[in-house]
Amino acid sequence: MNALFIIFIIFIFFLALWATSNVIAIIGGSPPVDTSRALCAEILRKAGLSKKDVLLDLGSGSGNTLIATVKDIGATAIGYEISPFPYLLSRVRTILIRQKVRIHYASLFEADLSGATVVFIYLLPKILRTVGVKLQQECDPGTLIISRGFPLTNLVPLRTFTAGHNKTKIFLYKIK
Ligand SMILES: C[S@@+](CC[C@H](N)C(=O)[O-])C[C@H]1O[C@@H](n2cnc3c(N)ncnc32)[C@H](O)[C@@H]1O
Repeated sequence: MNALFIIFIIFIFFLALWATSNVIAIIGGSPPVDTSRALCAEILRKAGLSKKDVLLDLGSGSGNTLIATVKDIGATAIGYEISPFPYLLSRVRTILIRQKVRIHYASLFEADLSGATVVFIYLLPKILRTVGVKLQQECDPGTLIISRGFPLTNLVPLRTFTAGHNKTKIFLYKIK
């Protein structure tokens, strides 16, 4: 009986954490819908990433992009995630590759963009307007920006392509 009660309490705790995380993600600017690792890998390859790159995922979710960056490309990955459940999940999922991954439990607006060669974003248009200004002001010249799904309105795309079965649109930008 006691064991069942403890399991029930743990279940309720994780349910509450998951529900709160979803609310935080939506208030933060984007719902917690992750890009699959296979789609990430395809996008990163088509964007021309190599082992030398340092990819920053602004709103890194449960870590698929970070894992694809390290395991499929061999590059280094840094994530910023505001929502506790995906953040904790991504920390657990990247334990075995932690030498090449750093994940910050923080708002993407606090992200240090210097040193990144690639920035990946999968965010809603509403938040993208502000993010676009931050990218333009703070990224090193030459930084490649990969935006999944939605364009940045303050930058002119270098090129666009589609990826995956659903032909997800990808926008590529280069910071001048
Ligand atoms: C659509 S998901 C994309 C996740 C991941 N980039 C991917 O493509 O698999 C957007 C993520 O951004 C996070 N997010 C939303 N607003 C944020 C903010 N202000 N700072 C950091 N993360 C944020 C959400 O919690 C969510 O996990």
